[in-house]
Amino acid sequence: MNFWQGKQVIVGIGGGIAAYKTLEVIRRLKEAGAAVIPVPTPAGLHFVTELTLQSLAGGPVHKELLHSIKPGEMDHIQLARKADLVLIAPTTADLMARMAAGQADDLLTTLLLARQGPVLAAPAMNPAMWSHPATQRNLACLQSDGIHFIGPESGSMACGETGTGRMAEPATILEAARRLLAPKSLAGRRILITAGPTREELDPVRFISNHSSGKMGWEIAQAALRTGAQVDLLLGPVAMPPPLGATLWPVVSAIEMFDTTMNLWQKNLYDAAILTAAVADYRPEHRQTKKIKKGEIPTEITLLLTPNPDILASLSAWTREHQTHGKPRIIIGFAAETGDALNKGLAKLIRKQCDLLAINDVTAPGCGFGSDTNAITLIDHHGLQEAWPLLPKEQVAQRLIATLAHRLNTPTLEPPP
Ligand code: PMT
Repeated sequence: MNFWQGKQVIVGIGGGIAAYKTLEVIRRLKEAGAAVIPVPTPAGLHFVTELTLQSLAGGPVHKELLHSIKPGEMDHIQLARKADLVLIAPTTADLMARMAAGQADDLLTTLLLARQGPVLAAPAMNPAMWSHPATQRNLACLQSDGIHFIGPESGSMACGETGTGRMAEPATILEAARRLLAPKSLAGRRILITAGPTREELDPVRFISNHSSGKMGWEIAQAALRTGAQVDLLLGPVAMPPPLGATLWPVVSAIEMFDTTMNLWQKNLYDAAILTAAVADYRPEHRQTKKIKKGEIPTEITLLLTPNPDILASLSAWTREHQTHGKPRIIIGFAAETGDALNKGLAKLIRKQCDLLAINDVTAPGCGFGSDTNAITLIDHHGLQEAWPLLPKEQVAQRLIATLAHRLNTPTLEPPP
């Protein structure tokens, strides 16, 4: 089910120009199925109109502290208690000061005093105002009161100055809000994830690679972060930036991915590894240091390839050797097959000795490389053969992380025979 479906979000709007971005936040929340209650401050209403807020939220705007409550209408205490989240965007310097002082001089601040559930603030102000000791003092005070913050970011400001003070972008605010509300089944866990392709260079301008976009691994990293895990993402050369909060380890070749994965894993910091990367099985035996010139070679070239180390098999072997003491660790591999996927996957599970293997037939419609959807069959050494339907990669990732969390939190399953 959609995460936001049925959730109720109060969106407080302070008096700052960044309020125009809050309209997009409201639009996206509504589109995702949330009920949105806009609560602008009087200053906020100078930047966005009541009519705009009402149209986007699809319901009434709450703006007055002292007004007569009609039958069936909620007072501010009820309003504050009922919502799943109070999001304040933009949170201005003045609003932060009033919140820190515990003032209740408008509906939003009154509602915040009555609030007992999660509150997320997205500050936006001039860089000098943000770095001012008074604002920093208020920030520390609000954080110790349990208010969560996202941003501000650095960049150019509407006032023409550059620095830290820009309100976080709508997508970032929504992701932070989602992470705040999501159940934390992997809290305190650390996960190593590989994603994307590797590149094996022939010379400084040419390489051998594959079609992996990194999306599957990216979604798994995102799902793990949402459930509270700390994530190290080893990412081959792809166009995407890493998900918010992941520690990025950019790599290019299979050897680089092997070295980085093994070095990190052998530190014994991780509870699980999920290897979705499409690692090149072979690399050119000789990499030319200068561009291979057409005129300087015969018309036909024979390319000598040498095998790359198998990261998944090495990781599993090392873990089995060192598993006797300490916490159990779970290793999940992916198998990209092109026909007879289940049988080939079962053989791969035995060969590579990982705990779980997610088999995907990359020739099936909507599956595998570059697509936004995938269909996997999850197998283990104890007879599990679970075929999942074609799902958005986001949902495949969510289900895989739920399976991992269940196994980590109930470590009664036998290790591979
Ligand atoms: O990135 P996307 O565009 O979203 O596409 C997703 C995907 C198709 C890449 C992903 O779902 C997937 O199937 N990843 C595994 C790709 C792969 O290399 O499969 P394989 O069957 O060749 O390898 C099996 C496992 O061994 C994989 O976990 C792989 O990371 C690992 N391996 C492979 C070779 C090697 N030298 N070292 C490895 O660790």
